[in-house]
Amino acid sequence: MPTILAIESSCDDTSASVCRDGEILSNVISTQPIHKKYGGVVPELASRAHIKSIVPVVDEALTIAGIGLPAVDAFAFTQAPGLIGSLLVGAQFTKSMALAFDKPIITVHHMQSHVLANLIPQHKPGFPFLCLTVSGGHTQIVLCEGPLQMKVIGHSLDDAAGEAFDKSAKLLGLPYPGGPLIDKYAANGIYEKFKFPEPNIEGLNFSFSGLKTSILYFIRDEEKKNKNFVQENIHDVCASIQWRIVSILLNKLEKAAKQTGIKNLCIAGGVSANSQLRQAFEQLGKKLNWRTFIPPLEYCTDNAAMIAITAYYKYLAGDFADLSVSASARAEW
Ligand code: KG4
Ligand code: ZN
Repeated sequence: MPTILAIESSCDDTSASVCRDGEILSNVISTQPIHKKYGGVVPELASRAHIKSIVPVVDEALTIAGIGLPAVDAFAFTQAPGLIGSLLVGAQFTKSMALAFDKPIITVHHMQSHVLANLIPQHKPGFPFLCLTVSGGHTQIVLCEGPLQMKVIGHSLDDAAGEAFDKSAKLLGLPYPGGPLIDKYAANGIYEKFKFPEPNIEGLNFSFSGLKTSILYFIRDEEKKNKNFVQENIHDVCASIQWRIVSILLNKLEKAAKQTGIKNLCIAGGVSANSQLRQAFEQLGKKLNWRTFIPPLEYCTDNAAMIAITAYYKYLAGDFADLSVSASARAEW
């Protein structure tokens, strides 16, 4: 019955979670509103904000779980990928706790943990499964044959799906992060009112940079005719952009499922919080006889519960690190 305390600090959320024998007892997330006014995450401000919030966040996670630090059997942190200054705060803090209590350290790959967020709920996929992982920095189709046996079989050649949402939102004058706002406006818009092209990329890879350019030109041309075009059509424009991003993602996922013959399908990562992606994924699953799995919203965007569940499987596998380990901005899969 290992009790694990996990820390996630790869970008602009400070999070801590306690997990006992694979069950999440707490998952505290503190977001950093300071980046809103800059239109994106400012790395130096992010690491400073992590330093401020890490102690209260860990305290709260322990209190909710009803344990003290001496009850922790292993300490885990996100090692990579992410912003190096932010990662280092989590790494150093976790290592200090492990040193003070003489307990093992477990390092976790952020993208692998997004996939394993699907193993937190009671209703979880059997192996093998495919996971479409869509976040602010990555877009991947992952073949998962066991909790620690994963392979990326498709990825974005340029922007990630989250970036496609955020950059489109910026073009529409919406604040960062724009993904949730596009989702909100799209709810009252007409999908396919405006047509944006689907890129023709071979295999299971994605590309979103062309979409961004076509949105830029589309807005420029429409605003020449009507300078209030965006304000007057915000719902339909958001719905059309969102639908194009969602259809690019699901078309590739369908292709991957056909190629591999796998029927257990999952989505994960911040963009999997998108209401239309969740709905369209379920519908496609029904049509194609998939067993579909989507993590609850709090485990989609960055959170330490996904780090804790990954650490739990690494604990069972005896995969520990020593005090010489550190964070790294990039990591091999
Ligand atoms: O996984 P995540 O929390 O952080 C990274 O590891 O990158 O993903 C953040 C991304 C952002 O691009 C954000 O705009 C997007 O997830 N996102 C959404 C929604 N909620 C978060 N995109 C579309 N619709 C949403 N509801
Ligand atoms: Zn993430």
